[in-house]
Amino acid sequence: MLRNLIFTYIAALIMSACGVSGSSDAESRINQKVDSVMKLMTLDEKIGQMVLYSSGWALTGPTIKSGYLDDIRKGQCGNIFNANTAAYTRKLQKIAVEESRLGIPLLFGYDVIHGHTTIFPISLGESASWDLKAIEKSARVSAIEAAASGINWTFAPMCDISVEPRWGRVSEGAGEDPFLGSKISAARVRGFQGNNLADTLTIMACVKHFAAYGAPLAGRDYNTVDMSERVFQDVYLPPYKAAIDAGAMSVMSSFNEYDGIPASGSKYLLTDILRKKIGFKGLVVTDYTSINEMVNHGIVANEAEAGLLSVKAGVDMDMQGEVFFKYLKKQVESGEVSQKTINDAVARIIRIKFMLGLFDDPYRYCNEAREKRLVYAPAHLEASFDVAKRSMVLLKNSNKVLPLKKGEKIAVIGELASSKQDLLGSWAAVGNINYMNSILDEIKIYNGDANVLYAEGCKKMGEDRSGFAAALSVSRRADKIVMVLGEDSEWSGEAASRTSINIPGVQTELLEKLKILNKPIILVLLNGRPLDLSKENDLVDAMLESWFPGTMGGKAVTHVLFGEYNPSGKLTMTFPRNLGQVPIFYYEKNTGRPLYLPNPKYKSRYIDCPNDPLFPFGFGLSYTTFAYSDIKLSTDKLTENGELKVSVNVVNTGGVLGEEVVQCYVRDLVGSVTRPVMELKGFQKISLKVGESKVVNFTIKPEMLAFHRADMSYGTEPGDYKLFVGGNSRDLKLAGFKLK
Ligand code: GLC
Repeated sequence: MLRNLIFTYIAALIMSACGVSGSSDAESRINQKVDSVMKLMTLDEKIGQMVLYSSGWALTGPTIKSGYLDDIRKGQCGNIFNANTAAYTRKLQKIAVEESRLGIPLLFGYDVIHGHTTIFPISLGESASWDLKAIEKSARVSAIEAAASGINWTFAPMCDISVEPRWGRVSEGAGEDPFLGSKISAARVRGFQGNNLADTLTIMACVKHFAAYGAPLAGRDYNTVDMSERVFQDVYLPPYKAAIDAGAMSVMSSFNEYDGIPASGSKYLLTDILRKKIGFKGLVVTDYTSINEMVNHGIVANEAEAGLLSVKAGVDMDMQGEVFFKYLKKQVESGEVSQKTINDAVARIIRIKFMLGLFDDPYRYCNEAREKRLVYAPAHLEASFDVAKRSMVLLKNSNKVLPLKKGEKIAVIGELASSKQDLLGSWAAVGNINYMNSILDEIKIYNGDANVLYAEGCKKMGEDRSGFAAALSVSRRADKIVMVLGEDSEWSGEAASRTSINIPGVQTELLEKLKILNKPIILVLLNGRPLDLSKENDLVDAMLESWFPGTMGGKAVTHVLFGEYNPSGKLTMTFPRNLGQVPIFYYEKNTGRPLYLPNPKYKSRYIDCPNDPLFPFGFGLSYTTFAYSDIKLSTDKLTENGELKVSVNVVNTGGVLGEEVVQCYVRDLVGSVTRPVMELKGFQKISLKVGESKVVNFTIKPEMLAFHRADMSYGTEPGDYKLFVGGNSRDLKLAGFKLK
């Protein structure tokens, strides 16, 4: 009944609004609609819109609220997450729309991180493709399948920069670099949101975890974050900002404290930075019960105070905490919380429901026929296959032992070789292993069963060595050995920090045993973080980093191993020689006693290990080789309003077509604060046929060189710069210029 009243009211408004001239009005038209709905809402119903509960469909945190169906019915829960399928979301939507007083439609959120049913490589893997089109495509396909399954809001992209391989959630991000991380975050937002949120194949993105969640002390998830304001502004903030500038309409506040205040209660983060500095206009949702957890943090004495702190800090929606649900009404009635605060928060939420088209048709995402047609569509599987291949990083290939030749007798070893679930990685949404093959399956399909022998050898964890003998026996009968080793897919992701970054269990011990056979060993890695591969690097002939490559990962690994695709990935996180080097990242400072000083002792070094990593940021080999000619600069003086054109010639000097990620770095030699020894300022992924050469161009503008100076003002400083171009952050051609 009332619902019809609303729509009559809105219709009248739209009619009157139609008179509004010009286009300034999509915005004002929506605002009028929002106002019309707000005017009808009671305080209870407004607070209900600020409540987000998990359905019983999946569990992604420590608590579950029973009775959420009744809450929906009473208008006291306006948003649901972890609900899936067109049918189930339709069921819940029906309760909201047809049984609650005002019939305001629900938002449906879900962690569509790297795929929905068709799963793509984990985000850290995708980032190693350095292919923004491929990454956007992955998000686009994920959005299509999620939207077809009733979801209109994903809790992605995760934009957390991290230099901490002990932290399991590095698997969800884009690595250590703010420039690359910003480009990737923006690409993911474009993929999820498309050009129009009202399109039924787009979903709202959510920038998370705001902010600086990727820097927990000791790499322990949820631990304290403690960094300088300058590092926060120059390194950790840019990817969040890039995602918001790309149009992301929601932000998730993180579990961690920043500067002593938990993010979900931080006015500095959620209002001063997010709203005032960045200009974010969408909704802020907390992470899972992070309001409640402020009591544990010790910033408030009880949950009521936590709710007060968070709503005043700028939180619009309480994920799973029931704090707004329990305390906000009294706090408004007592005057502790202003009506304006509530109205502003609710207006942001209602506006987004209009933008998603939910008021026009609340069931627009709940079409079962469409779901059947779109989920696991062949084109989606093909896209996942393509992105998986592009994400893989060839770390070693001695004596060109790769690519394998069809028909060679191959021994495949390792539990992970026959695993399907592990190929999906963590946060694998509703990825279904019945729609996929293992690496072993695919190698058999490609190379013929008769040419493939298999032994598990050992489990992916634990101390059981009883399978070693069988692995040795099988390997003796093969020309080459392909070992698939690494981590269980749940050994990275949330609440999965490790104090070791070695390959778990006795997998490496098995490798040492097989080494005795003196046959070529190819190591395929399944892992969600940088690992310490120093020992394996000495033992094997080739190493392929395949991350957790997704639904089509078995086929992608096979096609790379057999040369159907020439690997083109580059690391986006530094791989250390050992954990003792961590944190280690390419944009380090020079220090007062850099390694190149002549004295043998008094300089920044270890007595038991080199300073440089095992594999540096930006590193990745190919089945071909590339040669870089000298860099050419359009000028050696970059003026305030000028731009510097950089060109470099790249030639494919090897025997097969290949792709190269040409990287451009700069170094500010002298600043009012110390400056990194290098910073990524450009990259291009190019494809070159055998013998083909290309001139690759970069443009450096003064604003790209800005940073937070000694007085914390943001801008550039005149002075000398070095400029580097190459295929990774170590092997580079050098040039120089002055910024005037
Ligand atoms: C989890 C995660 C967050 C996720 C949310 C909803 O605790 O921290 O990344 O989006 O809860 O599942």
